[in-house]
Amino acid sequence: MPLKLHEALDINLDEINREIENLVLKDRDVAARSPLSQGILELVRSGGKRLRPLLVVVGSRFGPKPAGRRTLQLAAAAEFIHVASLIHDDIIDGAELRRGEPALHMRTGIAPAVHIGNYMSARVIELLARYADNEQRYVHDLSAVATAQLCLGEYQQMEHAFDYNLTLEQYLEKSINKTAMLMATCLRVGALSSGCSNETADELYAFGEALGISFQIQDDLLDFTQSSDALGKPAGSDLRHGQVTLPVLFALEDPALAPQIRRIGPHSSESELAGVLEGIGQSSALRRTEAVSQSYLDRAAAIAERLKSHPAQSDLVTLLRYFAVRDR
Ligand code: FPP
Ligand code: MG
Repeated sequence: MPLKLHEALDINLDEINREIENLVLKDRDVAARSPLSQGILELVRSGGKRLRPLLVVVGSRFGPKPAGRRTLQLAAAAEFIHVASLIHDDIIDGAELRRGEPALHMRTGIAPAVHIGNYMSARVIELLARYADNEQRYVHDLSAVATAQLCLGEYQQMEHAFDYNLTLEQYLEKSINKTAMLMATCLRVGALSSGCSNETADELYAFGEALGISFQIQDDLLDFTQSSDALGKPAGSDLRHGQVTLPVLFALEDPALAPQIRRIGPHSSESELAGVLEGIGQSSALRRTEAVSQSYLDRAAAIAERLKSHPAQSDLVTLLRYFAVRDR
């Protein structure tokens, strides 16, 4: 069995999980056994790789100070932001499943799920504002990403649903806002929490951004390559929902496929979709997408190379290896 990412990085997930749960358990305004508290605890205990908290901890290993409580609190905040965004995302996408289990809104109804997601992101902003005394202004970066960029990325995605004239630049911008910026910020904020220099923190940000773009591209690829069982949600969902991802952009360059793809709209039949999914699967689009994902990993590897003088650089190499062999 290959090591899990947190094992390969030698990070204690129990400590991080405790801080994540503390975000709601230590909120004196939320009653311990209230549906709000129970809903959040159930959700955060339902799994997840804790990738963003791990990035905060890895970032903290680049500074002179050992990772303390503040680093763990920032790691927990990053996961809360991520989980809150997924609650909203599943409502927006009409997704019934998350990680193979019913999505929160399927269990609670839409209005309670919206409020839970709002509470979680607001709670993070509340805490980050408290941490942000004069020396720790950098924590504002996390709340800025939480409030603005994720929402903007999601808005851009919605705005361009079924837009087959989407450009590569627009696709990348949306992917940065939706995914890469939070990952990059996690590394940077973690680094600054341990007294790392701004220069190194900025390099880590650039590394995280490249890694995040590669991650989003791979995620978009999985929708075409994985079974519904492996995905924990119906395969081909992105295309069905009008998301013009990188494989679709490449397939649109194929004169035989383009007209079929352009016909896909909100009311297309399952058989029409299946035909297009098969066409994209047999085209060169998936291989080309994989190559772009790899080029961002190469970009991240070049940045990691520049950070070689830091002992923690080996963690960046571990991240790169993990992202290269991520479940396809
Ligand atoms: C997953 O996308 C979703 C995101 C990475 C971000 C979604 C952001 C929002 C809904 C904005 C609201 C945010 C807050 C903090 C209130 P996906 O649908 O491509 O991935 P999936 O396959 O995991 O659903
Ligand atoms: Mg989704």
